[in-house]
Amino acid sequence: MAPSIRRLGILTGGGDCPGLNAVIRAVAKTAILQYGIEVIGIEDGFQGLIEHRVRPLSTKDVSGILTRGGTILGSNNKANPSHYCTGRTPSGEPIWEDVSEKCMTTVRRERLDAIIVIGGDGTMACAAPIAAAGVNVIGVPKTIDNDLVGTEITFGFLTAVSTATDALDRLQSTADSHHRVMVCEVMGRHGGWIALTSGVASGSDVILIPEIPFDMRKIVADIERRMRGPGFAIVVVAEGARPIGGSQVIGRYDDTSPDPIRLGGIGNMVATQIADLTGIETRTTVLGHTQRGGAPIASDRILATNFGFHAMAVLASGKRNRMVVRENNIFSDIDLFETVGKQRLVPLDHPLITAARAIGTSFGDGAGSIIPKPIPAALA
Ligand code: F6P
Repeated sequence: MAPSIRRLGILTGGGDCPGLNAVIRAVAKTAILQYGIEVIGIEDGFQGLIEHRVRPLSTKDVSGILTRGGTILGSNNKANPSHYCTGRTPSGEPIWEDVSEKCMTTVRRERLDAIIVIGGDGTMACAAPIAAAGVNVIGVPKTIDNDLVGTEITFGFLTAVSTATDALDRLQSTADSHHRVMVCEVMGRHGGWIALTSGVASGSDVILIPEIPFDMRKIVADIERRMRGPGFAIVVVAEGARPIGGSQVIGRYDDTSPDPIRLGGIGNMVATQIADLTGIETRTTVLGHTQRGGAPIASDRILATNFGFHAMAVLASGKRNRMVVRENNIFSDIDLFETVGKQRLVPLDHPLITAARAIGTSFGDGAGSIIPKPIPAALA
């Protein structure tokens, strides 16, 4: 271990995600058992760093949490130290301040030599002033959306896919019984990874993702075809999906948040239009935060444990301000700030899209299989 690391802070920032506790456990146990480092848990993400809310973590504190959803430390997706809302003006406007120095006061009081930050690109951006002040920050990538650049996978994603797939399977039997169209809205603001993966896993008929703007007339044609066959249809739609030439549907706006927009409502919009245009009974299910809650599945426990261990290995190697990543099944690390402000979208030629199109799945754009059909021998 780099000789300067004696006390290590750890925080979880942004929206929670299955597997956070598994990372905390792996980091704390590796730090204490392998390197004799003291670990200080910072509560509620950067909010705890701003307000000096911390507690020591022992191996006992992190025992038995591997399987637990959420985060024992708490999280927060509004506390960005350099752009922090401290109240409202008399006319109701939010007041923004840079409170980074409060974070540094906590760092100094707690004598933190480094901080492990578990979060998405927004959380990594929050770490910038602390890193600039000389604290070594090591990031662990987290989001159920799986849209962080630099890593082929984030922990929590496969648990969300499993939850969504289970829901879509359940919708199938009730859709079949009632000869209905079921529209299921899943998370995915920029990237349609959850919709694509759970849609393929459940055999959904229509998959709508932000990367492929849809044409309602094409969706209607695909659904009418499907109703003439099995007599029911399942549509999975990412919250960030939008019609060609249209915009994403905003569910709520919080002007006191540095990330003020929350999407939501596209599922209902699509369902209403399908019902109006086809006359077929259509229902909507919005999975929302059920995708973020609950225990991580086995593969996420393993991924999170590996990420936590690798974060400690990167710290021990003396590297500074890095984020651990996995590419081609190999763990490595990239610059901490490389992810900020970018999203890893689903490529339009992704093999799963190609396979789904080949088996007749609609992406609401009217395009069929892009695999060239073999020419019959008689015509060749
Ligand atoms: O980015 C992760 C995510 O779960 C998105 O999929 C979703 O739009 C958003 O967070 C919801 O955030 P909140 O918990 O603030 O409603």
